[in-house]
Amino acid sequence: MLSSILRAKEYAMNHPDYPLLTRQAVELISDVPYPVANLANLSALLYEAMDDVNWLGFYLMEGDRLVLGPFQGKVACVEIPVGRGVCGTAVQKNETMLVPDVHLFPGHIACDSASRSELVLPLRDENGVFGVLDIDSPHPARFTRQDQEGLEALVHEIEPLLRRTVQM
Ligand code: SME
Repeated sequence: MLSSILRAKEYAMNHPDYPLLTRQAVELISDVPYPVANLANLSALLYEAMDDVNWLGFYLMEGDRLVLGPFQGKVACVEIPVGRGVCGTAVQKNETMLVPDVHLFPGHIACDSASRSELVLPLRDENGVFGVLDIDSPHPARFTRQDQEGLEALVHEIEPLLRRTVQM
């Protein structure tokens, strides 16, 4: 218990400046009409900005499933049906999934066995969820509410810019 509190404090001190990161993300993709380029650059920007992350990237909806998009990290599973794993659950519930210990999450899909905690944020437009931002860490309980709220605000700003170019 004490160690997880200390870990949370340590991470709380190392949070990225999410408002700054959001401005950088918006700037990065605002004038670029290429969806793959935008998702690739966003994954690189966020991966660089976050400590203790071993995978960060995008899955996009194709019909009834998520399909792997641009990312940073080890090779990953290509298709995730809605309702499967942490990503598919985020789509099904249409909500952010903050999972402190992926080993305790029923149906977690282990792309990288080093991953211990995960944060998945839905990307939405007026028709619903068109993809997710998925972030994995090798440390249990790596992600805090501060990360969740900072990244939800970031995603909220980039969704309309991405939606202009990402085709369903
Ligand atoms: N762990 C995810 C699968 C994707 S990888 O983490 C890159 C899940 O359970 O949905």
